[in-house]
Amino acid sequence: MNPLAAELNELLEKNNPHVLAMLSDLGRNLFFPKGILSQSAEAKEKAHKFNATIGTATENGGPMFLQCIQDKLSAFNPADIYPYAPPAGKPQLRQLWREKMLKENPAQQDKHFGMPIVTNALTHGLSIIADLFVDEGDHLVLPDMMWGNYNLTFATRRKAEMRKFNTFTEEGGFDVASFKACLKKTADEKGKAVVILNFPNNPSGYTPTVAEGDALVEAIKEQAEAGCNIVVVTDDAYFGLFYEDSLQESLFGKLANIHPRVFSIKLDGATKEEFVWGFRTGFITFADGAPGESNAVLAAIEKKALGIIRGTISNCPHPSQTFVIEALKSPDFGAQKQQKFEVMKGRALRTKEVLNDARFVDSWSYYPFNSGYFMCLKLNRVDAETLRIHLLDKYGVGAISIGKTDLRIAFSCIAEEDIAELFDLIYQAECDLA
Ligand SMILES: Cc1ncc(COP(=O)(O)O)c(C=O)c1O
Repeated sequence: MNPLAAELNELLEKNNPHVLAMLSDLGRNLFFPKGILSQSAEAKEKAHKFNATIGTATENGGPMFLQCIQDKLSAFNPADIYPYAPPAGKPQLRQLWREKMLKENPAQQDKHFGMPIVTNALTHGLSIIADLFVDEGDHLVLPDMMWGNYNLTFATRRKAEMRKFNTFTEEGGFDVASFKACLKKTADEKGKAVVILNFPNNPSGYTPTVAEGDALVEAIKEQAEAGCNIVVVTDDAYFGLFYEDSLQESLFGKLANIHPRVFSIKLDGATKEEFVWGFRTGFITFADGAPGESNAVLAAIEKKALGIIRGTISNCPHPSQTFVIEALKSPDFGAQKQQKFEVMKGRALRTKEVLNDARFVDSWSYYPFNSGYFMCLKLNRVDAETLRIHLLDKYGVGAISIGKTDLRIAFSCIAEEDIAELFDLIYQAECDLA
């Protein structure tokens, strides 16, 4: 083991050994090297004459660039576009995102947590978590309605075992009892669990009520008190798109610092929130549960996360970080976001209105939804994949089939005035097959 990794592990052992126990074998071996990056950081401060440290090219006191590229990006300073961004991301972006998080998540305000680290959007954040905390056979606790890509990131890449709980009760609430039972079983079997809570949820479009959210947090605390080490991840990809009377903030704020055996991780980003899917700008933020605001634990885990970033993608794209900084600083940001929120909310509410037509009763019911980009139909009479193909072939309508009964509809992509027609066509297709 590299002595730097050993040093980080000793810090964890001393300040919160439960977090050390949560790490994967790879996680234990990770460190952030004192190589080119730290030498060039030193040079940046002190090398006033010549700085011949890092693998970029310079000219006229700034980065070298091609004018044909700069011509299209002329609103930006070349220094904010072309050089490598720091491995943890641009400091200004991290600070602005932290401030945004605090403003939008009241429960986080009196909690101790780290600075957000920039990731190549949320998928990358998930893979960092998988690398740091998941070994073969570790249990991943998540609802049966989940984003399918978790399979690749956790099960295929890291050989986690997926332990799924039932998402909804018969009455249409979040099935907290099923979550509790699933977590307890994992706790009893393994003494360690990695939990993913994704609200607004993909694919259902559901965010729990405040009471359901509190019950989830309580269930996690209960198992921690019983001796289970729990890594709990809030995947807040669709954060802020809350259209009804649900929880209006991330559960991360309530989970942070609740117990030394609970290590909380918030994943969020500009991808879906700011409608910049291709920018690839996300964040990973850690909160330790050890008493006494353990900066040492956060510092050690953050260094390990930077190690995996350095060893995989080296650092995240610089231009998109600059673009997001400009957006967050813009005086128009709030008003423009609100305007798009209203558009998305209009589509969600219109979807509900259309679906309440009694005509559809024999064909399907729908899962509860109140947030995000999606909703799911639960088909009564026909196979979801058969319907999906028929819809495409005969009606030119695309949707996603999940399992035998569920059809996911991204209302985020359908103009409010087209929603009635969309469900008319799905209904016609369903009747063709039934
Ligand atoms: C629940 C959930 N998490 C994470 C992601 C990935 O987001 P990103 O594009 O930022 O990697 C998605 C994207 O569809 C998602 O639905």
